[in-house]
Amino acid sequence: MNIILIGFRGTGKSTVGKLLANRLKRVFIDSDEYIESSTEKTIKHIFEEGGEEGFRKIEANAIAKLSKMDNKIIAAGGGVILKNDNVENLKSNGFLILLEATPEIIHNRITQDEKTTQQRPSLTNRKPFEEIKHLIVKRQKLYENAADYTINTSYVSCEDIVNEIITIIDKQ
Ligand code: S3P
Repeated sequence: MNIILIGFRGTGKSTVGKLLANRLKRVFIDSDEYIESSTEKTIKHIFEEGGEEGFRKIEANAIAKLSKMDNKIIAAGGGVILKNDNVENLKSNGFLILLEATPEIIHNRITQDEKTTQQRPSLTNRKPFEEIKHLIVKRQKLYENAADYTINTSYVSCEDIVNEIITIIDKQ
C-alpha cells in the first residue's frame, strides 16, 4: 500500500514525505517532480502551454501511473482532489493523509520555497494570499472527502508529524 500525502500547497507534503520515506526505508515520489521529469518541462511551462486544464490532464495521467505502484510515499500536487478519478486511483492502493495549515503559514512557506516560481503558477487572478484563502475554502470539502486521516501541520514539528503518521499506519 502507498502512503499518499494530500493537501494545499505549502502544507508540508514534500518535507514530511521525504522524512517519512527515510524513516520507513521506502521510496519517496513527488507527483510534480514526476510530471516534470516525465515531460521534461517545468510545471510553469506546462501551464504556459496548455493552461490549468492542460496541466490537469497530464497530472491525471501521472496519478494513474503512480497509483499502480506499491509501497511508495507519494506527495500529491495540491490540486489532485479536483478530479474524482485521481482520488479513486490513489485510494485503490493508498492510504490518504491530508495535511492542513493556516493560510498565513501556507503563505509564508510558499513565499520562502524556491520551488514556487517553477512549480506553483497562479491559479486565479487574485493576489497570492487572497488566492490561498479562496482556494482553501473552495477545495475544503474535496480534501476532507478524500482523506483517510487529517493532520494540521501549522504548529507541529515535522518529526512529530512523521511519528503520528507511523502510528496511524501501524494500526491499519
Ligand atoms: C497545485 C499545486 C502544486 C502543483 C501545481 C498546482 C494546486 O503542487 O501541482 O502548481 O492546484 O494546488 P504543490 O501542492 O506540491 O505545491
